[in-house]
Amino acid sequence: MTVSIEMGSGDPTRAALDVLAVCVDEGPLEKNSWISAVERAIGGGLIAHAKLVEFTGKPEQVLDVTTLGKLKARRVLLVGAGPSAERDGARLRSVVATAVRAAAGANVSRVGIALPADADFRQVGEAIGLGAYRFTKYFTAERRPKAELKKIVVFSGGRPSPQAKRDLALGGDIARAIALTRDAVNEPPNVLTPEALAALARRIAKDGKLGVKVLDKRGIRAAGMHLHYAVGQGSANEPRFIHLSYVPRGAKKRLVFVGKGLTFDSGGLCIKPAPGMGDMKTDMGGAGAVLGLMAAVARLKPRVEVHGIVAAAENMPDGNAYRPADVFKSLSGKTVEIINTDAEGRLVLADALTYAARLDPDLVVDAATLTGAALVALGKTCSAYYATTDDLSLELEAAAREAGESFWRMPLLDELAEQLKSDIADFKHTGDRYGGSILAALFLREFVGGCPWIHCDVAGPVWADRAKGIYPKGATGHPVLTFLHLVEGLSRTP
Ligand code: BES
Ligand code: MN
Ligand code: ZN
Repeated sequence: MTVSIEMGSGDPTRAALDVLAVCVDEGPLEKNSWISAVERAIGGGLIAHAKLVEFTGKPEQVLDVTTLGKLKARRVLLVGAGPSAERDGARLRSVVATAVRAAAGANVSRVGIALPADADFRQVGEAIGLGAYRFTKYFTAERRPKAELKKIVVFSGGRPSPQAKRDLALGGDIARAIALTRDAVNEPPNVLTPEALAALARRIAKDGKLGVKVLDKRGIRAAGMHLHYAVGQGSANEPRFIHLSYVPRGAKKRLVFVGKGLTFDSGGLCIKPAPGMGDMKTDMGGAGAVLGLMAAVARLKPRVEVHGIVAAAENMPDGNAYRPADVFKSLSGKTVEIINTDAEGRLVLADALTYAARLDPDLVVDAATLTGAALVALGKTCSAYYATTDDLSLELEAAAREAGESFWRMPLLDELAEQLKSDIADFKHTGDRYGGSILAALFLREFVGGCPWIHCDVAGPVWADRAKGIYPKGATGHPVLTFLHLVEGLSRTP
């Protein structure tokens, strides 16, 4: 069940709610008109209590108090929004999502959120949907959630305009698109196979009236994607190649997004150690993001062409599995000597990037949980990205800032590329451990055919060990929001 989001008018202290959450700018609490209203309704004591426990409105600080029956809502939450001068879209989303998550719990189905009057309602809608997200489908009996959030009412003072209502609804729909990404990443790998990923793509295409093409194992071979085929050949869950397209009339640009879709990465014959192997159900995080992005694009209808490509496979050890020392011809025609079957992502991406480049795009962007080295370099919360030009880098940085997602540019260091020379084929696909994320990017660059290109190594941030801001624990939906802002940014520039 999805939560309904609506605009409220009138006095939130009189509304039929279970919890009222008030977003509070840092500073004197008396100056906040929502707090004053609650203070009056409760009959005093709230502000004194907040001061006693040193609630100041610092970002994401939460104070949860009982109303002792003085309000219809049984709890009031004060949620810190930080200094008002620093409140940008990313901060607002983070605060609202935190408020929703803090409000949700036992016996809570209706939540009110009182906001500053200047809030952007699309961002608020996004934040509510993102904050309300949970993945509970595999809980039964007493593990099922006791009460689910049904309704969230937004108060911002005055009468809500029709535009505010539309923006709020748009934000809610964008959050629903991101929830598709999160669901896909949270799903266990026995359920989310390459075939299931293709079924999800078909559903998104149908709901959003997008073009869709899916190649199965034989189709992948017939198309000449022998690297993608090789990675999938050791699994009973056969690979799929997926292409979604959004082609509006009169579009002046064509953007192509490519996602790594390893529904499980055991490492193949170069098998991974047991601890942590289960984390590799998230190895389709890039693919999940591309599919969520396409769902959001279908709703947003920007004036640029957007294509979403997913190379889906399962990397397993088996009698049919590909092996170190094998040589395969890529879709581009270049041959590759296999060194380590655990470096499978760059292989499926190589063919998908060649396919993308043949669409004659203005920009190719890929997202891939590609290397452990990216995690070593930047930690678990920040994506490494590579851009072929400084202008593209600025575009991505602006988009990430608006989205509130963490990205750091890395260099395409040509001096590392000699490691990719093979004695038997055009390329090896791995080298030594040092600069591992960079080397993977250099390998991919060989297959983008000189197109403007941004590569995002999202190995860390697709998953979170704890909830924070717009990200819940588990699948985060990173980098859908950044990609969406990138699409919107590029649809505005000539
Ligand atoms: N999917 C992994 C990368 C990864 C590791 C993602 C940890 C998230 C967390 C990728 O397929 C992989 O195994 N990469 C190897 C490459 C190496 C064999 C050159 C790696 O990073 O160790
Ligand atoms: Mn691997
Ligand atoms: Zn992998």
